[in-house]
Amino acid sequence: MKIMCTVGTRPEAIKMAPVILALKEQSWAEVRVLATAQHRHMLDQVMSFFGIVPDIDLNIMKPNQTLTELTARLLLELDKVLLEEKPDVVLAQGDTTTVFAMSLACFYRRIPFGHVEAGLRTWDMQNPFPEEANRVLAGRLTKWHFAPTQSSKNNLLREGIANQDITVTGNTVIDALLMTAAKDLTLGIELDDSKRLILVTSHRRENFGAPFKNICRALKTLAERNQDVQILYPVHPNPNVKDIAYEMLSEVPNIILCDPLDYSPFIAAMKKSYLIISDSGGVQEEAPALGIPVLVLRDETERPEAVDMGVVKLVGPNYDLILNEAQRLLDDPQAYKAMARGVSPYGDGKGAQRIVEVLKEFCA
Ligand code: UD1
Ligand code: UDP
Repeated sequence: MKIMCTVGTRPEAIKMAPVILALKEQSWAEVRVLATAQHRHMLDQVMSFFGIVPDIDLNIMKPNQTLTELTARLLLELDKVLLEEKPDVVLAQGDTTTVFAMSLACFYRRIPFGHVEAGLRTWDMQNPFPEEANRVLAGRLTKWHFAPTQSSKNNLLREGIANQDITVTGNTVIDALLMTAAKDLTLGIELDDSKRLILVTSHRRENFGAPFKNICRALKTLAERNQDVQILYPVHPNPNVKDIAYEMLSEVPNIILCDPLDYSPFIAAMKKSYLIISDSGGVQEEAPALGIPVLVLRDETERPEAVDMGVVKLVGPNYDLILNEAQRLLDDPQAYKAMARGVSPYGDGKGAQRIVEVLKEFCA
């Protein structure tokens, strides 16, 4: 059976890598890896870390690409690939434009589509934008829904997806994390070990503009008020983020700005961190498993499990909330301890295996 595995951006590569590697071990599966390269450098970083070479690479990324041009170019290019390759099954992960375009391209060619990390919902089409729409739309066109948690399965049932089409697998981000965290990890950036480390990432489209400036102002004040702290911030290359972050934060002595880190140094940075401040989906899933508290720079999340367990807290792109909550975790050991518990609500490291089992049954 010819299975095409799609990757477009950094998180898709991280979360698809365990699936690709597990499928490649199956005698019944002919695996083809398609990179849309919606991200270029950040995708390549991850693919080379996991030793996966794409069979097809569309090299689609353009600087500061708009959603419409990206979607339109993807649809045309993906359709050509599907026509040429004629896969029996196509898989994609998550809620990026690559995933939505691939689900639609498969629907038009009547090729069954498997959605990895299915069923995440905020129930608000504007947040996150455009990801909520991408995953809802892809979900309508999906044959196999690989839901990471029971709560994501419940979301799909609420939308009328049939029970037998949904498998709770755990999130493959934990498979990737366990594969990586077991290795010798080096950060490769010199830090002052006498200072507590706060790791920051931010890239959400709905935060572009004023909300992102609030985030930067809060980080600046936090750094200025706490000289015993250093903030490490690998800056996302999206110009809407990068230009502002460097403009507002590069002069602050205890804030280190750098390019996106390779996956394994980033895991090393997470493990060294006292606290993480982020709007990333993947980081919200990984950090609890490593026992690091996360303040999420969003007003809502499609990943409620860690919030319910009290190890992740939503602070929005809100200057006061970011400052107050971060300061509390720096000053109050009890509050910190309550959030720094190692829990893994998103997976047990066997997500890829469960996905393989479902596809194997289909193939038999
Ligand atoms: C995309 C996804 C988002 C995901 C995020 C993960 C969409 C609409 N957005 O957001 O869901 O959470 O990736 O990081 O699918 N760029 C580079 N080099 C890279 C990557 C990006 O220069 O390796 C720059 C380019 O100027 C590019 C821009 O970032 O045009 C935006 O990339 P895009 O994939 O459209 O959006 P992201 O904000 O990265
Ligand atoms: N990550 C990385 N280098 C970095 C920042 C993040 O490898 O400098 C990893 C992180 O471990 C997580 C993933 O990238 O697995 C999250 O990607 P991102 O935040 O870009 O996207 P999201 O998860 O929000 O879709």
